[in-house]
Amino acid sequence: MLLEMEIEVTKTGSPKYNEVDLNNPEFGKYLADHMLIADYANGKWGTPKIIPFQNLSMSPAMLALHYGQTVFEGMKAFRTKNGAISIFRMDKHLKRFNRSLERMCMPPVPEEIFYEGLKKLVETDRNWVPGADGASLYIRPFMFASEERYGVKISEEYKFIIFSGPVGPYYNQPLRVKVETGFVRAPKGGTGYAKCGGNYGGSFYPTALARKEGYDQVFWTDARTNEYIEESGTMNVLFMIDDVLVTPAISDSILDGVTRDSILTLAREMGVKVEERSVAVAELEAALKAGTLTQAFGAGTAAVVAPIQDIYINGVDYSLPKWGDDCFMLTVKKKLADIRTGAIEDTHHWNTLI
Ligand code: COI
Repeated sequence: MLLEMEIEVTKTGSPKYNEVDLNNPEFGKYLADHMLIADYANGKWGTPKIIPFQNLSMSPAMLALHYGQTVFEGMKAFRTKNGAISIFRMDKHLKRFNRSLERMCMPPVPEEIFYEGLKKLVETDRNWVPGADGASLYIRPFMFASEERYGVKISEEYKFIIFSGPVGPYYNQPLRVKVETGFVRAPKGGTGYAKCGGNYGGSFYPTALARKEGYDQVFWTDARTNEYIEESGTMNVLFMIDDVLVTPAISDSILDGVTRDSILTLAREMGVKVEERSVAVAELEAALKAGTLTQAFGAGTAAVVAPIQDIYINGVDYSLPKWGDDCFMLTVKKKLADIRTGAIEDTHHWNTLI
């Protein structure tokens, strides 16, 4: 469906893309020149508009600031080998966004606003899309409760915004990860599958403690028994055990990662045996001891494929064996990059060319 009204674009008079080295931008530091904004009030969406990136004016009594009705997505656009621009898996991101919104009692964003808005915003900021290997335009659609009210209630007003910025790798080196068996991220029936702000805020304290102990990230375990691996704070986790690609099955306490899904699809095509199932900490421990766990990596839009070097379990640091350039995780990472940049055919129609 097409938007009834054209999205109005007001361009900045002072674009800044020439001031940033687009070849290796630090993740999360740079903002492209424009943003899209749409308001929801009186039960309906207003027409989105694209304006120069700018601060918002808001009431200190705005509901999102107090009760956490805020949801986001993380997406990427790539410069293809022939200079075009493609946005990766828009449909899967919108589906997840609307599932998260439903869980947080927020109205869905209509397809036409999401798709048309994204395409027009990326088109407007096309000079910000990097072409270097490993770099991309990170896109952050998000929505929050904007009603001014401080009684605990579901907001009746929302803002949907998309901004973007050029990024390089989220992690620059192989990770040291701690299996967390004290703090938990998400119980059954909770908000773990939703990309809501609170899931991230709640993970900061345990992750900061793990950092002090020398780890980059934690592996969250299930909230009931702490015996099963769930995900890492910024990514899903996958393991190569006895030449089988094993990953925790998606549940209501695990984010349904778009990169995870893409990797599993490619792995199956590559003839790799894939198992989506419960992954016990004890299984990892035994496989690390036996040397049958040969690769472990995180997968996420920001992290892409993030190799893991060390895993801490119950007081012991286990190191993964050295991996070569031809290992599965680096091969699938390259395949994904090649699909996104048009170097190989996009047989799954994951790219939206703009
Ligand atoms: C992403 O991978 O896009 C994420 O949202 C993870 C992190 C940057 C919060």
